[in-house]
Amino acid sequence: MRVSKTKNSRKKRRARAAAPEAAPQVVVLAAGVGSRMRSTVPKVLHRIGGRTLLETVLDTASEISPSRIVVVVGAGREEVEKVLSGREVTVVVQDPPLGTGDAVRRALPALSKDGSAPVLVLSGDTPLLTPATISRLVARRREKNLDLAFLTFRPPETGELGRVVRDPQGRVRRIVETRNATVRERRIAEANAGFYCFAAPALERAIARLTPNAANGEYYLTDAVETLAARRGAVEGIEAGDWREGWGINTRRELAAAEEIERRRCLEHAFDAGATIVDPATTRIGARVRFEPDAVVQPFVCLDGDTLLEQGCEVLPFTRITDSTVGPGAVVGPHCEVEGARIGARSRVGPFARLRPGTVLEEEVRVGNFVETKQATLRAGAKASHLSYLGDAEVGAEANIGAGVITCNYDGERKHRTSIGAGAFIGSDSQLVAPVTVGAGAYVGAGSTITRDVPDGALAVTRVPQKNLEGWATRRKARRKGVQRADG
Ligand code: UD1
Ligand code: CA
Repeated sequence: MRVSKTKNSRKKRRARAAAPEAAPQVVVLAAGVGSRMRSTVPKVLHRIGGRTLLETVLDTASEISPSRIVVVVGAGREEVEKVLSGREVTVVVQDPPLGTGDAVRRALPALSKDGSAPVLVLSGDTPLLTPATISRLVARRREKNLDLAFLTFRPPETGELGRVVRDPQGRVRRIVETRNATVRERRIAEANAGFYCFAAPALERAIARLTPNAANGEYYLTDAVETLAARRGAVEGIEAGDWREGWGINTRRELAAAEEIERRRCLEHAFDAGATIVDPATTRIGARVRFEPDAVVQPFVCLDGDTLLEQGCEVLPFTRITDSTVGPGAVVGPHCEVEGARIGARSRVGPFARLRPGTVLEEEVRVGNFVETKQATLRAGAKASHLSYLGDAEVGAEANIGAGVITCNYDGERKHRTSIGAGAFIGSDSQLVAPVTVGAGAYVGAGSTITRDVPDGALAVTRVPQKNLEGWATRRKARRKGVQRADG
């Protein structure tokens, strides 16, 4: 009888597992005081890789497209809420902070009443978790119809972490917090990472049964594990493939170590994508930077934001690139500042160039030293090799911008556009006073101030005609000598 019952319920579980599941809901715990940081800044607002810990966790959670995200705030909540503004999250207040179990209890009313959506609980102080691992927890819980799937890991030092206690068959029995652990339990190398995927009804059940911990009066979310594990096969602890994902931050030391881990991980992405990072120690790569094979990054380069280095391009030393694309075979640097720009195939930028947002360089464009561009499109083969400002401008294919050419795009109130036709030649030290158009193939004589449109194929010069005074300099010199002799 019993056997067949088990079989039946297994069948039922499998049948349920096959049905598509509602998108998960996420609870992020961010109400803790974080006293071990010794800081007036709330712990979850400390940063790694330029983002606050909380933002990092939220960004990761968003990648699995949850149906909603609930953030539990408490300590320093005015500041924490500022970081949340503009994000689609529900904020729940926990005050005073009575532990992780209490924090989740506060979040329950903000969750959907639809019991079929699983609930992911994530810690706001554990920023190195990846979306792939969250998805793994979600999938495992669904496939085996578990009440709970949670992440475990084996860090080099278990310190103050909760330890995962398993029975001789390897089944999870409970999590024991360090302060409550026996000497033997403290030797357990497998720790709780603090990421949980619960079946919603099971979570409610377990939270209702939490009691305050005798040691400090806090409600531990980890106690839910023992409650649910009482039913055989309802709980699984899944070990992280890479222990670094579980790295949590309670102290400044751990924060610095996380920065180092994150830095290393970003480098590894680059290596795995086929990029050459000549000097990893002096190269900074943001988490969202992508690489194509054979991109080369020379020492002292900073790549950030949504940046893509395409096949075989090269970034030379002391260059910073943010939110930009470097096309195949293009070379940028040394000493360039590039933000919000698209650099086309085989273009050459630098040394000492500054590409500002809205810059588009098509193929084989040349932007040389001390050239600044902003909201500027340079079509294929255009060249601006020295000392120019090109703002709100369009430069036609194969046009040549001489040294020192400036688009005067700002009249003190408004910005205006300059348009330079294909194959045009703008002589050195000219100013193009926008709005103005220089036609295709037209020439502008060096040193001109162009205030009116130049037709296609025309020459525009605005210089005062040159005057030569024969022998003037020689006579002057002679005069001065005479004066000096008279003085002596
Ligand atoms: C917790 C786990 C531990 C696990 C570790 C992993 C518990 C009891 N222990 O310990 O098993 O190994 O994480 O990093 O859960 N928070 C609140 N409200 C509170 C208390 C905490 O929102 O009342 C938030 C904190 O802001 C933090 C997260 O919950 O983001 C974890 O709290 P923390 O005090 O850091 O727990 P740990 O001691 O690290
Ligand atoms: Ca922690």
